[in-house]
Amino acid sequence: MVGAVLVRDGEIIAEAFHEGFGLPHAERALLESFNDPIKPDDILYVNLEPCCHHGKTPPCTDIIIDKGIKRIVYGMKDPNPEVSGKGIMALERAGIETVGPVLPEICQRLNRGFISLQTKGRPYITLKHAQTRSGEIANSDGSTLKITSPQQDEWSHRYLRARHDAILVGAGTVITDDPQLTIRLEDKKLEQSSALRIVLDPESKIPNDAQIIEEGTLVIIGETLLESVTTNPEQAFVPARMQELQERGAQVIQLPIKDDVFDWDALWRELLDHGISTVLVEGGASTWANFKKAGMIDEEVWLVGIMDNKDL
Ligand SMILES: NC(=O)c1ccc[n+]([C@@H]2O[C@H](COP(=O)([O-])OP(=O)(O)OC[C@H]3O[C@@H](n4cnc5c(N)ncnc54)[C@H](OP(=O)(O)O)[C@@H]3O)[C@@H](O)[C@H]2O)c1
Repeated sequence: MVGAVLVRDGEIIAEAFHEGFGLPHAERALLESFNDPIKPDDILYVNLEPCCHHGKTPPCTDIIIDKGIKRIVYGMKDPNPEVSGKGIMALERAGIETVGPVLPEICQRLNRGFISLQTKGRPYITLKHAQTRSGEIANSDGSTLKITSPQQDEWSHRYLRARHDAILVGAGTVITDDPQLTIRLEDKKLEQSSALRIVLDPESKIPNDAQIIEEGTLVIIGETLLESVTTNPEQAFVPARMQELQERGAQVIQLPIKDDVFDWDALWRELLDHGISTVLVEGGASTWANFKKAGMIDEEVWLVGIMDNKDL
């Protein structure tokens, strides 16, 4: 998420942002569409260090130099080793005054997904838990317990679901809670931000009519399931189930299992193919535990129910 603004005499005279993977970067988009001559006191602000390498698009440092920008303020250094510090060096070598990084923490927060992909090779992962004041996450028989208030739900839809690229749950949660995992808000514009819904279902146990099974939902099953259909009659249901899920619009993919969980590298590769850089893990207990055990957590959010249901 990168934006650029061009400022003249304290006023913004042009702005642009990076609209998506493979498309022009913010500063290039701005400078390509700004046709007036650049004045010596104009300042270009951008939240990420301009790139100096040929990726999907040509280096932004070239167009900044060619257009005659003399001063640039940047928010943070690029974590990509091909760029980090080198973009600034290229600008300074061309006589451009550079100021920054001016707001590294805020800028890093904004681009935590991209930074995680660059530095850890996996998406940024947030775990969301809801629990009662006495610590329950479900009823004692495992059935669904409504913990959060409508205000807490509104908050988590707005600040968690709408701000992650994907929302992930384990098969147990789909079987017990039958969640929709959609974004439901009064602000209808935010509802349109569509996070990819993902179910980890190695044994293909979730019901075909689960609410989450809709257009686009990604259901991940164990790679060996289909292979064992011929040798294990108990698995004979799997192809028919996969077909039913696919007929309802879900994408069913198979990944290898390693040490009882999906192979993490294979999972990250799959998510990268879907353009995912941030994942909200909503449960349940075993899924949280698997992510924790593997050290795959960047942030945890606890929503504590204002009242225990038994107090109501
Ligand atoms: N309070 C809350 O915030 C909250 C949120 C969600 C759910 N819940 C509650 O939590 C309970 C469900 O939790 P649960 O532990 O039974 O189920 P779960 O965590 O939703 O799902 C567990 C199953 O998902 C699969 N799985 C999870 N992580 C995996 C990984 N890394 N690789 C491969 N497979 C993986 C495994 O399937 P297999 O068993 O097929 O191997 C595992 O048994 C329900 O009572 C629900 O109401 C509470």
